[in-house]
Amino acid sequence: MDGIKLVNVGKYYTVKREQVKVLEDINLDLPANKITVILGRSGCGKTTLLRLVAGLETFEQGEIQATHVKRKAYVFQEDRLMPWLTVRKNITFGLKDKEIDHEKISGIIQMVGLEQFEAAYPVQLSGGMKQRASIARAFAYNPDFIMMDEPFSALDYFTREQMQKELLKIHHKTKCSILFVTHSIDEALILGDKIVILEKGIIKSEYEIEKDHERDLLSDKFVALKKQIMDDLKVV
Ligand SMILES: Nc1ncnc2c1ncn2[C@@H]1O[C@H](COP(=O)(O)OP(=O)(O)OP(=O)(O)O)[C@@H](O)[C@H]1O
Ligand SMILES: [Mg+2]
Repeated sequence: MDGIKLVNVGKYYTVKREQVKVLEDINLDLPANKITVILGRSGCGKTTLLRLVAGLETFEQGEIQATHVKRKAYVFQEDRLMPWLTVRKNITFGLKDKEIDHEKISGIIQMVGLEQFEAAYPVQLSGGMKQRASIARAFAYNPDFIMMDEPFSALDYFTREQMQKELLKIHHKTKCSILFVTHSIDEALILGDKIVILEKGIIKSEYEIEKDHERDLLSDKFVALKKQIMDDLKVV
């Protein structure tokens, strides 16, 4: 299977010489061309899981196998823009000069709604705008696998909805694999082909979402699934 596979992965952090288990026995397929959403409460291990998949962190147990994954991009939970570069230069930062397709970059900047700000510096942007620039940078890199850690949480409701739609459009067009972290059940239901519920470092449940389902949060099917996920997460 193309994509990334985690087999019996366990991760510990050492805090004051004590080993604290953060992820336990994670078995998970992140299939190519799909959006896999990791959903869970604060502190359950979502960022840690993403960092392991990205190769940014070591782990003590198990194995992570990648098949036909060449270019990985990562959208961090906080924006990590270079303050001395303009928005446009930040977005093309990971690319060699000859790799830059200026027209395509303009399209990506437009998609995230920053066309009026491409010459601005990060300090001149709001939190949500910085986050949109980070998302644009990830897509400018032409990734075949993209990891996104709560990328829309700094955005207002309307911009968030719009970015979710744009993400689905890009995904449809590029077919890139996406590993997306959120603590929003609605967002998971809107975006996910597969939803993985993480609780205290353990996979509690997994849901495969039908391919041609309607992403309508008010439909009976969706309300039922949301209720089930709320039960899993013990949201009353
Ligand atoms: N570098 C570290 N050293 C020690 N413990 C850590 C470290 N990074 C994370 N942890 C612990 O691992 C657990 C999971 O952290 P993680 O950042 O993966 O959570 P999260 O699900 O992303 O939370 P949030 O939704 O708040 O971003 C937490 O208990 C955290 O305290
Ligand atoms: Mg996190």
